[in-house]
Amino acid sequence: MTPKNIPVDPFDCVIFGGTGDLSLRKLLPALYHRDVDGQIPANSRIFSISRKAMDAGAYRALVEERVGKNKADIASWERFLARLDHIALDASADAGWDQLKRRLDEVPGQVRVFYLATAPALYGPTCARLGKAGLATPEARVVVEKPIGHDLASARQINDEIGKVFAEGQTYRIDHYLGKETVQNLIALRFANSLFEPLWSNTWVDHVQITAAETVGLEGRADYYDTAGALRDMVQNHLLQLLCLVALEPPRSFDADAVRDEKIKVLHALEPIGESDQGIIRGQYRRGAAEGKAVPGYQEELSDGKSSRTETFVALKVGIANWRWAGVPFYLRTGKRLAARTSEIVIQFKAVPHSIFPRSAGGLNPNRLVIRLQPDEGITLHLMTKEPGPGGLRLKSVPLDLSFAETFTGRFPEAYERLLLDVVRGNPTLFMRRDEVEAAWTWLDASIRSWEEGSEAPKSYMAGSWGPTAATALIERDGRTWHEEAA
Ligand code: BG6
Repeated sequence: MTPKNIPVDPFDCVIFGGTGDLSLRKLLPALYHRDVDGQIPANSRIFSISRKAMDAGAYRALVEERVGKNKADIASWERFLARLDHIALDASADAGWDQLKRRLDEVPGQVRVFYLATAPALYGPTCARLGKAGLATPEARVVVEKPIGHDLASARQINDEIGKVFAEGQTYRIDHYLGKETVQNLIALRFANSLFEPLWSNTWVDHVQITAAETVGLEGRADYYDTAGALRDMVQNHLLQLLCLVALEPPRSFDADAVRDEKIKVLHALEPIGESDQGIIRGQYRRGAAEGKAVPGYQEELSDGKSSRTETFVALKVGIANWRWAGVPFYLRTGKRLAARTSEIVIQFKAVPHSIFPRSAGGLNPNRLVIRLQPDEGITLHLMTKEPGPGGLRLKSVPLDLSFAETFTGRFPEAYERLLLDVVRGNPTLFMRRDEVEAAWTWLDASIRSWEEGSEAPKSYMAGSWGPTAATALIERDGRTWHEEAA
């Protein structure tokens, strides 16, 4: 597949936290790939901001070392490196902003993207200083990463602080799951085809499963992760966003507010999750094996040796109280150190109301539509067919497979490539609006609070498994099973 380039205006991208992991692992490779594809206009510049004192040469050397493996060819790489500069600036102090302003003012009228790849505690102070330095011009946009707060109150505070400087239309709250190809394909599948929409409700859908399973552990992020846990790290944002896209009503257009207006209705319709009805299972991995290698347990990975109740796995049964989805459970699960890296959405349709076939034909498996986000993006529809050959009728469930890699050739752009350029373009459709973030926290807050006030320990699961047995029981109690054939 050759990505089609829609030109964007020349821009300056200022990355706060430019020497950090997110920048070096995701943002710079994404910008480089867009540059290789010719989508970054000639005068565009990228400024890294961090407290580290280094000149442009030293920063380019760092990028060469960390990002250079993505090099497509020398010419494109050198063109990209020439766009980079570094400014030493402490976002929580007043000094040094005039230098940034001077550099940005060298090329007036460019779109300005301020990407805050920093700790959320710095979002407010950084925006305030951008405002004070006169940098929050009408062409400016600010991008913030999750987590936006750790509960509703802190999210509101961060949103208020950003909102004092940047209008909602200039604020891009990134959820990189929304930039994944298959996630956008989910919208195409639902609204560019007439086939599924008539079936997309409690009349024909039995239940939905959304899984985001990872094999990695803490990856050196213990300080953050231990204060967050799987509910805040993955459910509040990524999984709820996927749930919204599965459940939303047809928006009137693929316009930012039309889509987001429908997502917020889903969030408002989520039934409360109580601890008491066992609708939520928290787990924590112990020592085991991941991808064939022995790996330590979560507690051992924490360097401070403290005992922690943070969940590295969570499974939830969620109800949506509206006309379309009443009675259809959405089972969500996510975890670290699971058996496989797989993210998928499974729509399980109801069984046929009556079988006309003799017992000898075999059982009838209800249809399943599996939307794979990763790996091997694609869509599989499981259908019942007759096994070929004479000798009576035998039925078999077979997959009708659409593998994107086989259907579309070429490289699949990473989520950040699409999202970064959407920011430059001023298209917030795939970003979270303030009310969405706050509605998601409102829904989760009570559950998180009651867990934190309690003393129950998360259920232990072995690294390399599919999570605690209680998570299997959560779905099996309802006579259903997790879809694990990707494992
Ligand atoms: C991030 C989480 O938002 O998403 C990480 O903070 C997680 O903990 C990551 O590993 C998963 O993203 P992906 O794209 O690898 O599924």
